Amino acid sequence: MENNQPNRFFIQTFGCQMNERDSETIAGMLIERGYVPTNNKKDADIVLLNTCSVRENADQRFFGILGQLKKIKEERSSFIVGVCGCMMQQQHIIDTLKSKYPWVDLVFGTHNIHTFPQLIEGVLSERRKIVDVWEEAGEVVEGLPAKRLYPFKAFVNIMYGCNNFCTYCIVPYTRGRERSRRPEEVISEVKQLVASGVKEVTLLGQNVNSYGVSSHGSDYCAEEENGMDFAGLIYALNEVEGLERIRFMTSHPKDLSDGLIQAYKDCDKLCNHIHLPVQSGSTNLLKKMNRKYTKEHYLLLIEKLRKSVPDIAITTDIIVGFPGETEEDFLETLDLVQTVQYDSAFTFLYSIRKGTPAAEYEDQIPEEIKHERFNRLVELLNDITAKINKTYEGTVQKVLVEGTSKTDKTTYTGRTDSLKVVNFKGNEEQIGTIVNVKITEGKTFSLTGEVV
Ligand code: SAH
Ligand code: SF4
Ligand code: F3S
Repeated sequence: MENNQPNRFFIQTFGCQMNERDSETIAGMLIERGYVPTNNKKDADIVLLNTCSVRENADQRFFGILGQLKKIKEERSSFIVGVCGCMMQQQHIIDTLKSKYPWVDLVFGTHNIHTFPQLIEGVLSERRKIVDVWEEAGEVVEGLPAKRLYPFKAFVNIMYGCNNFCTYCIVPYTRGRERSRRPEEVISEVKQLVASGVKEVTLLGQNVNSYGVSSHGSDYCAEEENGMDFAGLIYALNEVEGLERIRFMTSHPKDLSDGLIQAYKDCDKLCNHIHLPVQSGSTNLLKKMNRKYTKEHYLLLIEKLRKSVPDIAITTDIIVGFPGETEEDFLETLDLVQTVQYDSAFTFLYSIRKGTPAAEYEDQIPEEIKHERFNRLVELLNDITAKINKTYEGTVQKVLVEGTSKTDKTTYTGRTDSLKVVNFKGNEEQIGTIVNVKITEGKTFSLTGEVV
């Protein structure tokens, strides 16, 4: 590498674990080229923004950051700015970039991350601007490098894309149709991770319950090959020696199988937690959202899960203020929350995503009503979380230690099997290991304890 070539990079990641995982791949590719990560945009020679289209105001924030980067570029002409991720799969974003941000060096999408080494090579060696966004995904590409965020826990993609087209959601448009990785690829990646010290894996997909169901060209299809479905994959991974914890994100209630519920009983490594996004407690709204289940069906699933795994922690996603949501619909959501007793929830104010069916609905809810309902919902959720966390007091929990707290370097932090954050006085050697912690206090957003 020549001396005058850039050699430090900074990747800012927005959105979900899919994007975090993609950023790890891009980082791995840059490291293979001899680059090193830096924590500061200003020190970097290459800055990449990996964007998300779901979160509210994502567009404004993104363009705001681009504005800041332009200043650095004006001071240093060698500074390279690249943008990627879900927003790049939306034509109106590409149009805005072309007209208002022509100085951005590299634009690519979610379907061609594997081509990043050639793209960045083109930008660096030829000093030309490259825009390369694929409208559709090709076959699943295996064997890409990765710079994982932690040495002891890792995200593992098992499938890409989404076929569900919930009417509010942009993801099927930005991530394409469902494609599953072959089970042997997943298992071999997990084995390699474990060999390098990983104790916990989180299997990623927009709807992991349909793993191996929809085949797309030559991708894996369990039925055609008499192969593993999602529950089968969990059983197989449970056999991986040295692996201690298996988690997954996210599962759609319409496809949650009895086989998976049974797997919680049979597979000791599968953590006693499920993230099961409900979105709304009103069957009427669920229909408008195209979620394909009713409130009753959802509650039946919760009942089955609790029967099979009494201490299972249940978390969810809820959208407030979907078009047409009446006070009665909202009360049904509060009622469902009260019945399920969620350990915690991600709550979202409905926001219009251009290109989705719900963006065209005429019965949009005024902002102040959305906010008022949101506050009532969060208050109820927090009360329930605090109450559940109190029941942990006096129990001993197995905690995978992740590091020190941001504000106090003598306090260590980790997660229980049920995904609760635990703070305790620890030491550096405990990072990456599983320790027993006796819980002394259960608070709304965390537990406090001492190592026993
Ligand atoms: N595949 C996952 C969700 C991915 S998006 C699943 O189906 O569970 C994460 C969450 O963002 C969704 O569960 C939903 O609650 C929220 N969300 C998506 N689009 C939204 C929108 N337009 N407005 C508000 N919240 C939205
Ligand atoms: Fe979006 Fe629905 Fe797919 Fe989840 S299942 S990614 S909410 S369309
Ligand atoms: Fe956002 Fe894309 Fe994930 S839109 S939530 S980063 S799949």
